[in-house]
Amino acid sequence: MPRSSIFPLLAVTAGFASMLSVAQASDDNSAVPGVEKSTFGQLPDGRTVDVYRLTNASGITMRVINYGGIIVSLKAPDAQGNFEDIVLGFDSLEGYLSDAYRKANPYFGALIGRYGNRIAGGEFSLNGTTYQLATNDGSNHLHGGDQGFDEVLWNAKPFENQNGVGVILSYTSPDGEEGYPGKLKTEVTYTLTDSDELDIAYRATTTKPTPVNLTQHSYFNLDGEGSGSILDHYLMINAEAFTPVDDTLIPTGEIRPVDGTPFDFNEPTPIGERIEQDNQQLLRGKGYDHNFVLKREAPQSEELVLAARVWEPDSGRLLEVETTEPGLQFYSGNFLDGSLSGKQGSAYEHRSGFALETQHFPDSPNQETFPSTILNPGETYQSHTVYRFSTRDGL
Ligand code: BGC
Repeated sequence: MPRSSIFPLLAVTAGFASMLSVAQASDDNSAVPGVEKSTFGQLPDGRTVDVYRLTNASGITMRVINYGGIIVSLKAPDAQGNFEDIVLGFDSLEGYLSDAYRKANPYFGALIGRYGNRIAGGEFSLNGTTYQLATNDGSNHLHGGDQGFDEVLWNAKPFENQNGVGVILSYTSPDGEEGYPGKLKTEVTYTLTDSDELDIAYRATTTKPTPVNLTQHSYFNLDGEGSGSILDHYLMINAEAFTPVDDTLIPTGEIRPVDGTPFDFNEPTPIGERIEQDNQQLLRGKGYDHNFVLKREAPQSEELVLAARVWEPDSGRLLEVETTEPGLQFYSGNFLDGSLSGKQGSAYEHRSGFALETQHFPDSPNQETFPSTILNPGETYQSHTVYRFSTRDGL
């Protein structure tokens, strides 16, 4: 299929992408491959938030805003070719800024930084200095603190290359932000490929040693957002172990085999099949809210590896996740309680979306046996995750 008439394809030079000027969004909903930019809203301080609509060669569309790098919608076909929005979120900026949203704080679709998941007591020591971070989840630090990367305005540059269309988001976190040492320059590239993948590449550099653990917090419902529970989705996680948590959801340090537990997803299993079992870890998480240790032939390898596969029987939609990260947080939407209503006006009820967050393990700065999350000056943090969308008649 020829690429967009909106964006004539430029010759791709070395590097990630060629930069293009951006067409203003048209009112129609046509599926012309390319990127369209329009205004999404205004922050209370007057800054404008833009939305970029990416359309690939098969007509999958994804809308991303430069506030929080939030993916506000992703429309993908079911087995009959009907497109539906399969991520939770809102159609207006107000949805993401409302008191109700901030109170519930589900991080719909957002980029998470500087540290995905929890750091115990919001505290860690590095090279003899103890750092105190914001404690925004009881006594713990969660997803970067009071104002994490999910709530900052990123610079956005749309592009088109031989793989598809995308947007490069960049943000420089000042030294000391949320208590973290070092000025952290961060760049996240979202590419919606013509192979029907959302490809996410993360890079960061720092001026002082600091922990970094970036991730993406989209909630999926493969039967369509707002369509109810995700408990019928079949899930496979490529992991033989997980990291059990204490009652504040901080890892105990143990790496526990999943064999014989409700955490064994090596065979595709409906999410709801064992979620109500009388299991201490499920009770602590109020469902699944755990980090899985991904299986790799060479444990230290940083190759992309299959992390998870999710299939929804009614729509036939299949989501596959690959990552270079050692861990995957599977969160079954346990804290959703119907108090937020999404794009079609339907309430996001308990477990009506799930997140698969590729990551280093939670609380790694305080856990010597976990893979290190410390980035030093002169090094480049790199992380790569692919979410692939397709359909299948059965598993
Ligand atoms: C965490 C949950 C948390 C959710 C929303 C997930 O990544 O693991 O414990 O409630 O994000 O904040």
